[in-house]
Amino acid sequence: MPVERTLILIKPDALQRGFAAEILARFERKGLRIVGMKLMKPTAETAGAHYAEHKERPFFPSLIEFVTSSPLIALALEGDSAISVARTLIGPTDGRAAAPGTIRGDFALSKANNLVHGSDSAAAAERELKIWFPEGLITWTRADTVWAEPV
Ligand code: RTP
Ligand code: MG
Repeated sequence: MPVERTLILIKPDALQRGFAAEILARFERKGLRIVGMKLMKPTAETAGAHYAEHKERPFFPSLIEFVTSSPLIALALEGDSAISVARTLIGPTDGRAAAPGTIRGDFALSKANNLVHGSDSAAAAERELKIWFPEGLITWTRADTVWAEPV
């Protein structure tokens, strides 16, 4: 089973609506290790680099405005298949179509303000982690890993 790292953003709407702890708890209780975490109000440059793949899309300006509007929490998570596991917990982009039990399915009613970002591939995770955590991450072993990841 591949141990992976993924970049999560708990977006400004999640903090504005008081869901930061709830969202963090969902990743934490799944068994993913927090290896980086910080509250920040990113510059348009940082947000633009993060969402560079969407630069030509009509929603790009409003997306950058949204993610720079107030603080967000950048998170680096580590664990078995962390990239796809986090995306499954998050749910599809449009909260209206996301299944109950997913973060977006439970709390989002919007495609734009959808509470959380998760890297969508190993290449994206590597690129995004460098943007948000250029200083590197903290390696540690969670005491419950031996119980949570037996096979
Ligand atoms: P994310 O990158 O934030 O994890 O979301 P995602 O993969 O599910 O969706 P993506 O297609 O990468 O879109 C990135 C973010 O842009 C905003 N968006 N707005 N107004 C719109 O039609 C629209 N489409 C996307 C959302 O905040 C989305 O998460
Ligand atoms: Mg995306």
